[in-house]
Amino acid sequence: MTIRPRRLRMTAALREAVAETQIHPRQLMQPHFVIADPQGEQPIDAMPGIARLGIAKLVERVGRDLELGIASVLLFGLTDEKDLHGKAATDPDGLVPRAVRALRERFGERLVIATDVCLCGALTHGHCGVLREGVVQNDATLPILAAMALAHARAGADIVAPSDMMDGRVRAIREVLDGAGFEHTALMSYAVKYASAFYGPFREAADSAPKSGDRKTYQMDARNVREGVREALLDQEEGADLLMVKPALAYLDVIRAVKERTLLPLAAYNVSGEYSMVKAAVARGWMDERLVVREILHSLARAGADLLITYHAREAREKAWI
Ligand code: PBG
Repeated sequence: MTIRPRRLRMTAALREAVAETQIHPRQLMQPHFVIADPQGEQPIDAMPGIARLGIAKLVERVGRDLELGIASVLLFGLTDEKDLHGKAATDPDGLVPRAVRALRERFGERLVIATDVCLCGALTHGHCGVLREGVVQNDATLPILAAMALAHARAGADIVAPSDMMDGRVRAIREVLDGAGFEHTALMSYAVKYASAFYGPFREAADSAPKSGDRKTYQMDARNVREGVREALLDQEEGADLLMVKPALAYLDVIRAVKERTLLPLAAYNVSGEYSMVKAAVARGWMDERLVVREILHSLARAGADLLITYHAREAREKAWI
């Protein structure tokens, strides 16, 4: 008798038949950066293929993506109106609420609309919470985040997604949503979010880099996995409906560890730096983009991610990579 694992690798059809991991387009969530000029379309240097879009352009783009089978979006609002309290972020008629209403009006329930909830884009200093004497204030930030989430929920978001990493924000947001009659709005927590150099291109795209210091007093240390599981379980207890690990590729062990300890759906955020690294290498002819994107996305699903938040989504569908 010969033991031959290779037997099941002999044809493409055989390999498909025994593949342990499949990705369905419905698992893909496309992030979008929304800007004030409705017709605006500003390509982002550090993220080839991605542009900041005004609401009219966004609606067009999402319409085409829906035809490709991408039925989930994650919205980031980019505002110039920055202050020390994040007022622009809580405005019920702000950029993200207007974008949500426009998308909902056009696409109804066919589209899953998630919104990023964080104050860094609306605060002058670029931190994810309000500052006092140079220190990011946890509890003073919570009601502002909750007001931001409520503005998104009122506009019709399916999912609000806090990415600030303040402690207790899931409970604070849940209580405010429930109190206002939005008990059906889901909450996806960026539960396990690391202080990561892979956010570099995003911070250029969103102009959200902290003006002083870094985010290490609230985002997690890249060396820790037990702490990540703890963060995930705390957010689950506080009422999160979905959990997220971010970044994705350098944290496959964390995705697996969280997956083994929760029954909630799990998202992996394949962040800007992971995207731009691929684009940069492909531009030099160093890698085959189709193969490398498939390998990356399959690795996230294999590690245990149910939902894949990725800037590659549209191109992967346009070119039938997925
Ligand atoms: C805002 C936020 C960031 C990202 C998502 N939400 C940046 C940060 O925390 O500095 C990063 C996304 C990406 O890099 O694609 N808090």
